[in-house]
Amino acid sequence: MGTFVGKPLKQALVWLLSGGTALAADLPAPITDADFGALSMAEVRLGRDLFYDPILSGNRNISCATCHHPRFGTGDGLSLGLGEGAVGLGPDRHVTETNLPEQRIPRNAPALFNLGATSFKVLFHDGRIEVDPTRPSGLRTPMEEDMVTGFASILSAQTMFPVLSPDEMAGHYNENEISKAVREGFITGPDGAWALISARVAGIPAYQAAFEQAYPEIAAGRPIAFTDISNAIAQFVAFEWRSDDSAFDAVLRKQALFQPEAAKGADLFYGVAGCATCHSGPFLTDHSFHAMGEPQLGPGKAERFERHSRDEGRYRVTNTPADIFAFRTPSLRNVAQTGPWGHAGSHKDLAAFVADHARSGAQLADYDRTQAVLPALPQTKPDWTLLDTPAEVAAIRAAAVAPGTLTPDQVAQIVAFLQTLSDPVALKGRFGLPDTVPSGLAVDR
Ligand code: HEC
Ligand code: HEC
Repeated sequence: MGTFVGKPLKQALVWLLSGGTALAADLPAPITDADFGALSMAEVRLGRDLFYDPILSGNRNISCATCHHPRFGTGDGLSLGLGEGAVGLGPDRHVTETNLPEQRIPRNAPALFNLGATSFKVLFHDGRIEVDPTRPSGLRTPMEEDMVTGFASILSAQTMFPVLSPDEMAGHYNENEISKAVREGFITGPDGAWALISARVAGIPAYQAAFEQAYPEIAAGRPIAFTDISNAIAQFVAFEWRSDDSAFDAVLRKQALFQPEAAKGADLFYGVAGCATCHSGPFLTDHSFHAMGEPQLGPGKAERFERHSRDEGRYRVTNTPADIFAFRTPSLRNVAQTGPWGHAGSHKDLAAFVADHARSGAQLADYDRTQAVLPALPQTKPDWTLLDTPAEVAAIRAAAVAPGTLTPDQVAQIVAFLQTLSDPVALKGRFGLPDTVPSGLAVDR
């Protein structure tokens, strides 16, 4: 709609459809190229192959795309994923008797939209990697002093985690040379896990040639380093899933109007419902941490020797009591396609999530467990230990921000607004899936 009206009139209509409140003034400025870092297409192309190639996993059986697939809005369609050892994709992913994972991945796999934007300076649900110019590497990470330099961006540095995680990609101790190196504490250096992964990749002639094309130093003879692999993947993610082509963006650029139901939702979102106090700016996040009382399911973020099933979120990183059970505010770009929602994927229905989210900790009293999507996983920590323990539930509830309520009509209007954030270009992906990858291993489709 709206092609027939002149610009000033369109702006007035946005105002009117929103009920005449301060909506037009509160909407963020549109996204532009200046929000993103520079891209090298040679790196982007190489990064695509690496992202979809199981070669980076210890047992050559899982790729980044297994948990971040375009079919599932760059997530995995599950509340909590099944990593190395499971087979299949999305809700069909399942375990087999021969290679049982030890536990579920403890948190929901987040979507990867717009992570090449320079305003993303903290990553992960708990922000455990963060841009920090005072450190030699430019980043604060759990690796502390062992952190190497050479990661071109925080997005690149993120890649070091999944490849080292036994549950996600490395595999279990003794299954392969990479998981053994991880277990023995060899990460950096010539015998470290990263060097082993890099040597594997360098051993495939098509990769060696592609790295020489992307990086002049490699063409000049420097061996491929893990940071080259992660830099290329980061470039791919930044290119492939930049998302600023939604109906919402058209409104921000004053090229279109919200449909009436979505306009009411936007009015609530930017008005009385208070959503935009945290989901602010063009990416709909303040990049900060809040305790929203989301249900905690699955194994929790515990060390192997710990018995509890808690996930204390930001507190595990900062040790600051105010951060207990706080998680990062996620971007809401393409949110209608990225379910299940919540840091533990507690809800598979977006309207149900939004209604519960607004109620903050009060939602825990009547949370509907059928909202979880958890493929069977025998012989592991039970999924509901935490929610079955009243003292644990009370602690999450006590930490949560003050509750509110939304009527079913308001929830429907907000969901209509959230649907305007869906961007067909980014959801499809600009390059899409490669037909084959240089290792010859199978690509998850
Ligand atoms: C077994 C599933 C799995 C695999 C495989 C996997 N990831 Fe993830 N990814 C996750 C989960 C779960 C998180 C959230 C972890 C957390 O916050 O503690 C995550 C977080 C991320 C993030 C941070 C997003 C944000 O907004 O904070 C990025 C980027 C990412 N993954 C990229 C990758 C890349 C690149 C690979 C391949 C090298 C990969 N992932 C492999 C499950 C997976
Ligand atoms: C006080 C800050 C705050 C407010 C206010 C807030 N949110 Fe959130 N939102 C968050 C945080 C933090 C999370 C992640 C919580 C978690 O998973 O534990 C989140 C998660 C979400 C998610 C799930 C995203 C995903 O990928 O899983 C949606 C959808 C959402 N919020 C929508 C809304 C809407 C709609 C409103 C207004 C009714 C709102 N939020 C109000 C902070 C806030």
